[in-house]
Amino acid sequence: MLLALLLLPWAWGALAASPHLPPASVTLRLLQTTVFHNASSTDTVGTALLGDLETHSLACGTCKIRFLQPWAQQGLTPKQWGDLELLIHHYLFNFNRTVKRMAQQQRMGYPFVTQGSIGCELHPNSTSRGFYDAGLNGEDFISFDADAGKWVAQQADKLALYVQDLLNQDKGTASTLQFLLRTTCVNELNTFAQYGRESLERQEKPVAVVFARAPPPAGTPAPVLLVCRVTGFYPRPVRVAWLQDGEEVAPGGRLNSSGILPNADLTYQLHSSLAVEPGTGHSYACRVQHS
Ligand SMILES: *[C@@H]1O[C@H](CO)[C@@H](O)[C@H](O)[C@H]1NC(C)=O
Ligand SMILES: *[C@@H]1O[C@H](CO)[C@@H](O)[C@H](O)[C@H]1NC(C)=O
Ligand SMILES: *[C@@H]1O[C@H](CO)[C@@H](O)[C@H](O)[C@H]1NC(C)=O
Ligand SMILES: *[C@@H]1O[C@H](CO)[C@@H](O)[C@H](O)[C@H]1NC(C)=O
Repeated sequence: MLLALLLLPWAWGALAASPHLPPASVTLRLLQTTVFHNASSTDTVGTALLGDLETHSLACGTCKIRFLQPWAQQGLTPKQWGDLELLIHHYLFNFNRTVKRMAQQQRMGYPFVTQGSIGCELHPNSTSRGFYDAGLNGEDFISFDADAGKWVAQQADKLALYVQDLLNQDKGTASTLQFLLRTTCVNELNTFAQYGRESLERQEKPVAVVFARAPPPAGTPAPVLLVCRVTGFYPRPVRVAWLQDGEEVAPGGRLNSSGILPNADLTYQLHSSLAVEPGTGHSYACRVQHS
């Protein structure tokens, strides 16, 4: 009887009373992937993201910036976009050259792949954090500490320490990078956040369904796994709780969650499960809180 009730899609009892979720930080992030095929051939692709929205892309060859959102070109003049493209070409040229030189000196074998996550994060309390995290062949390799203006190896091996020392000798580039991450990036982030406001503030309501997974055959006193499937919501912050007789179930062994996972249409989903003993007369509900 209880199960039959729970198999019905759950209604939004708790939504009206839901407290506000804390405001989230916003991030502007450039993702750079470069494949070094051999000493004479590389491929680079880049993507810019505002929060979880892809805003710009770059494919070399031409290394031209492409705009992926209708508002992504706003905020900079055509001249400023041209200057930015030149700056990126200059950066990629130096990146190419520096990495190849390191590969030669350290006798690294080709092919290998470098990845960079470069940008800044603005917190609700108006403080910000700049970052440049670089990976080699899928592993964290070296990071830039934007406050100290120093590179820090993320591996203890000889190569990472060599690269750390080499990059830290170039104080000019380090202070330029510090300025780009702490000032330029935060200004751009504020500009894009203003033009992209509607996209960032898009609201998609979650749809929740409660069901029992693999119900045991009648008469077997095995625990039942109740699953609450919440999907189609945007933005990402969500709170999902199980209620037993109206009381929130405390975190622990009976609860399990998939964590927040992306859907293909830039909405999110989450599954939360609760192990229950059937026949004990309790009632259960899944409560979803979202902006
Ligand atoms: C380098 O790699 C590219 C792409 O894989 C290939 O087309 C080219 O022939 C290679 N060159 C040499 C010298 O191996
Ligand atoms: C990086 O070097 C390769 C040759 O190894 C070249 O084909 C490519 O254009 C260079 N990229 C940039 C941005 O300079
Ligand atoms: C501002 O918020 C961030 C992220 O929540 C936190 O790490 C930082 O310590 C806060 N700074 C101040 C001065 O409150
Ligand atoms: C939680 O769920 C995952 C799969 O969704 C499973 O691999 C894991 O074993 C579960 N943990 C517990 C404690 O049930």
